[in-house]
Amino acid sequence: MAVDVVYEVDQPQVIEFKTRTLTELGAAPSADRRVVAVDLRDDWPAALRTAGFDPARPAAWSAEGLLGYLPPEAQDSLLDSITELSALGSRVATESRPNPRPGDEDQTKEGLHRISEHWRAHGFDLDHVRLRYFGERNEAASYLTDCGWTLNTITVRDLLAANDLPPIKDDDLRMADVLFVSGALNKTTK
Ligand SMILES: C[S@@+](CC[C@H](N)C(=O)[O-])C[C@H]1O[C@@H](n2cnc3c(N)ncnc32)[C@H](O)[C@@H]1O
Repeated sequence: MAVDVVYEVDQPQVIEFKTRTLTELGAAPSADRRVVAVDLRDDWPAALRTAGFDPARPAAWSAEGLLGYLPPEAQDSLLDSITELSALGSRVATESRPNPRPGDEDQTKEGLHRISEHWRAHGFDLDHVRLRYFGERNEAASYLTDCGWTLNTITVRDLLAANDLPPIKDDDLRMADVLFVSGALNKTTK
């Protein structure tokens, strides 16, 4: 039986922490987990291929909760590389945030400051504003569509309602407007 291979691509320190924690907990992955410790602003496709990734076989990509931590040009380059490395029938899941309206980003930064203060009170000293890149960028959903992906999109607001979950309260990060994006590559783009 074919063993599912999962390539986990993340920053070296995060990979090291996760791997050590899983080991300490005695947790064994049910798939063949291969770690790719690389910064996504660098040449991650080369690192992924070195780890054994075969671009001739369809893959399922998950880039969830990631794009806002990359500068705009690294986001475009990530989506370009995902497309280049995808055989027909590959799948993708990610999110697409609408570009900010005037005043949105100040509100988002205030919200992130509030979250940081909350965690600081629990001993976790991290400034969430410094993790994120702000400003205009290509919206991931339309960018992927232009790359040849056939997508389904739904706002987080509608996704919550469709699953009988309560709406997000005090949504100063505009999370409800984020699109959950999933789809497949059905035509040749190369
Ligand atoms: C909010 S978390 C999302 C986690 C992911 N959905 C998961 O289930 O593991 C953001 C992730 O993006 C990673 N990340 C942020 N910037 C990165 C970069 N430049 N290169 C590689 N990974 C990055 C972080 O280390 C973190 O694991």
